[in-house]
Amino acid sequence: MKHIRLALIGFGVVGQGFARLLSAKRNLLKQLYDLDVSLVGVANSRHGFIYREDGLDIQTLLELAETGRPLTSYPGITSWENPLEGLGAIYADVLVEATPTNLRDAEPGISHIRKALGQGMHVVTANKGPAALAATELLALARQHNVQLRMEATVMAGTPVISTIREGMSGAQVRAIRGILNGTTNYILSAMATGRDYAEVLADAQAQGYAETDPTADVEGYDAVAKTLILSALVFGRSLKPHQVARQGITNITREQIQRATDQGQRIKLIASLRLLSNNDGKESALDARVEPLALPLSDPLARVDGVMNAISVQADTLSEVTIIGPGAGGIQTGQGLLADVIACTKA
Ligand SMILES: NC(=O)c1ccc[n+]([C@@H]2O[C@H](COP(=O)([O-])OP(=O)(O)OC[C@H]3O[C@@H](n4cnc5c(N)ncnc54)[C@H](OP(=O)(O)O)[C@@H]3O)[C@@H](O)[C@H]2O)c1
Repeated sequence: MKHIRLALIGFGVVGQGFARLLSAKRNLLKQLYDLDVSLVGVANSRHGFIYREDGLDIQTLLELAETGRPLTSYPGITSWENPLEGLGAIYADVLVEATPTNLRDAEPGISHIRKALGQGMHVVTANKGPAALAATELLALARQHNVQLRMEATVMAGTPVISTIREGMSGAQVRAIRGILNGTTNYILSAMATGRDYAEVLADAQAQGYAETDPTADVEGYDAVAKTLILSALVFGRSLKPHQVARQGITNITREQIQRATDQGQRIKLIASLRLLSNNDGKESALDARVEPLALPLSDPLARVDGVMNAISVQADTLSEVTIIGPGAGGIQTGQGLLADVIACTKA
């Protein structure tokens, strides 16, 4: 039996979802993968980093979080106020990074990831900031230290997109990708297709927890831009900057535009796309990257993906078009992406 020690930084919706999954799947991991996984360290921003050499009991951690008690009240632990200091002082095989996405400078996640990779830990992350702004640098750092950095959960949560393209489609040449990569905007556009107004649907999405109080990152397309940058780096090996992705959100889409599209047998969707452009001599040159609302014919597999569901279509030389549809958010769903990546790290 292989024993794997995990540290988890970020114990919110995703961190707790992952922990829940780890607890529920403990026996399955032993049976199917011969893996005994223990969580030895956990951190949040309010209480810092706690560590227990022999492992932390997940139910106790979840109870502390649910009852609002500090993680540091867990008995018999060592703790550090600064998670980076804690990370530097402990031994773990894999860091699971699930702190908030920051698309300005990728902090605090990027520092956690650099530190862990530098110490020879594998890293799996759901955090879009470091993946969108610094994937190439961080993957090079991982290679330098002979460990893996995996980011499945950053695009479409646990729906396997990155591993499907990078591993399942090995050897195929990807020419273009198109995707519905933001559930909030897809929920809004789907509801508007039933005749409702943008403002009314947004308020409904906020009430149901599908949209943030400040919905800018979703409705203006920044979240989809981040995922486009991640796919650009991981699928095409190109590090684009955010300004290199042409961006248009959905705030100016009117009920009339949606109705006109419906009358013409089309659906308006916020589409993130990456497409290799060819020179006159047929050689590939630039990568066209954009996030924009587009009217799609109903024959397009993306046109019928409704509600908070996400989808991606990949065009490759050997497979024509492959489409993957699945959830793109949620604690357990994103936890699944992290869990798959942890298992993949142990197979290295
Ligand atoms: N939610 C989803 O469905 C989803 C899907 C895909 C990807 N993601 C990504 O996953 C990440 C986590 O999302 P979430 O929904 O779990 O967010 P969340 O509920 O806000 O949780 C964030 C956690 O990170 C902790 N944290 C913040 N700053 C920290 C720091 N400097 N050091 C240590 N811990 C820190 C917070 O501490 P406190 O508890 O003390 O506030 C909290 O526990 C984000 O990057 C998000 O974009 C989320």
